[in-house]
Amino acid sequence: MNRQHNCDVLIIGSGAAGLSLALRLAENSDVIVLSKGAINEGSTYYAQGGVAAVFDEHDNVDDHVSDTLIAGAGLCDEAVVRYTAENAHDCLEWLINQGVDFDQEESTDNTTKYHLTREGGHSHRRILHAADATGKAIQTTLVEQVTQHSRIRVFERFNAIDLICKNINHKKHCVGAYIWNRNNEKVESIHAKKTILATGGASKVYQYTSNPDIASGDGIAMAWRAGCRVANMEFNQFHPTCLFHPDAGTFLLTEALRGEGAILRRPDGSRFMPEFDERAELAPRDIVARAIDYEMKRLGADCMYLDISHKNSDFIKQHFPTIYQRTKQLGIDMTKQPLPIVPAAHYTCGGVMINQQGQTDIANLYAIGEVSYTGLHGANRLASNSILECLVFARAAAQHIEKTLDHNKKYLKLPFWDESRVTDSDEEVIIQHNWHELRLFMWDYVGIVRTNKRLERALHRVELLQREIDDYYCNFKVSNNLLELRNLVQVAELIIKSAMSRKESRGLHYTLDYPDLADTIKTTILTPTV
Ligand code: FAD
Ligand code: SIN
Repeated sequence: MNRQHNCDVLIIGSGAAGLSLALRLAENSDVIVLSKGAINEGSTYYAQGGVAAVFDEHDNVDDHVSDTLIAGAGLCDEAVVRYTAENAHDCLEWLINQGVDFDQEESTDNTTKYHLTREGGHSHRRILHAADATGKAIQTTLVEQVTQHSRIRVFERFNAIDLICKNINHKKHCVGAYIWNRNNEKVESIHAKKTILATGGASKVYQYTSNPDIASGDGIAMAWRAGCRVANMEFNQFHPTCLFHPDAGTFLLTEALRGEGAILRRPDGSRFMPEFDERAELAPRDIVARAIDYEMKRLGADCMYLDISHKNSDFIKQHFPTIYQRTKQLGIDMTKQPLPIVPAAHYTCGGVMINQQGQTDIANLYAIGEVSYTGLHGANRLASNSILECLVFARAAAQHIEKTLDHNKKYLKLPFWDESRVTDSDEEVIIQHNWHELRLFMWDYVGIVRTNKRLERALHRVELLQREIDDYYCNFKVSNNLLELRNLVQVAELIIKSAMSRKESRGLHYTLDYPDLADTIKTTILTPTV
């Protein structure tokens, strides 16, 4: 018999989306926040560049909207883009009131203003930041508030396995989730009146990624298995500049470096971006990543270079202290020499379909943050619009949940998790092997440049892996590696099928078989058969 917990609101995920929602709801509700690893461990903590919002008097919401639409290559939902840009300032003020200390500067009239940096695709300086460690400032501030709140319980090292749903009046309702307690290796359950997926993205499906280990698409896979539609999964964003170094692991070199004047160079020192786009290093990410990939393949080079050494050394150390320290430890002095870079999988633009209140297709189930598809990013996300989306949609979902939560509703007894027929895993090597195989063929066949043949090969392999993993899942006790692999394979299938259905090249989806834009613009929507 497994242990059952009860709460008003279950939030699966402790990044910017999950924690900001928890803080907004906890005045009136009992909240459980679930985190697969340590509470800080998610993409939010590692964000560098910052958060986009109109704070400069010469900037305006219309320009933020228009820059987002241009980067999105015709596929953004304009109403959602406007809603997000219009609410950006208020959501940033909320974050500042929670205690986030964004960098400020003295202006010419002796008043203090937020220092705004610039990134690719933005027509103005628009990015609030805390040096080059903005995510850490946001995450640690929110964690401090959440862990002090008497109505928020944080469950660290708990994996949500699957959602629990019930049919009421012919409509599917979410009533909670099965969770795997990694601390005692037992499956437990949580009954909640409202459940929110805030599980982040799925970039770990690729061999090379800027993302932390938790980014295994769990929320997308759980929602799909439960019966939610997903959209635009073919648009995985590759960040152009991750550090290329055998000891670096996954380490991003923020786009703000290019915003402050860094130049991309070939190994021979020549600059190449002006040959690809008139916006050069500040073109949207899809264009820059593809140009780097093209040059690497053309020259047979292991990497390209990012050079900011022409700027004043104090300026570099002041604006990019984290990157300066990290690369110095690895023996590279960025004030004097260029940094070796490669593109890596960075952001999942598609996800679980939601409306403007964060609601999914299943009643009482919401999705916010990178796990969701709102229509904001279209075929390519504009830099620094992601944490913004987390904050804006957390607020929208909070408002809807506040209005609709029935505090008098009784708690249910959930069905037990049946472990009677499973045993301990006897062949961990299968899981390890499948992990490597999946991420490698996704990188090679479903990466920055695709073809029909590569996608067909990838789908064939995914189907084989899926059969093996389903078989394994039915017979052996769960583990973190198995749960994540099961989700990653599901997400890989959704990416490949979405990519196969798009017969054009648009934004982040580039295929040699259809190099041009199609005449009609459409969002890719996949519907599960459950
Ligand atoms: P995350 O912050 O990723 O949090 C996900 C949470 O879900 C984690 O707590 C995790 O433990 C939990 N979780 C996942 N699966 C489960 C499960 N099965 N059970 C329980 N818990 C689970 N965006 C910007 O706007 N500006 C930037 O400057 C920027 N820089 C970036 C730099 C890097 C290196 C990276 C990787 C991303 C960057 N991004 C940036 C993107 C942005 O950080 C993310 O999109 C955003 O932080 C996602 O927030 P989130 O709350 O949706 O998810
Ligand atoms: C970066 O700092 O380059 C990342 C910004 C983002 O992903 O929005």
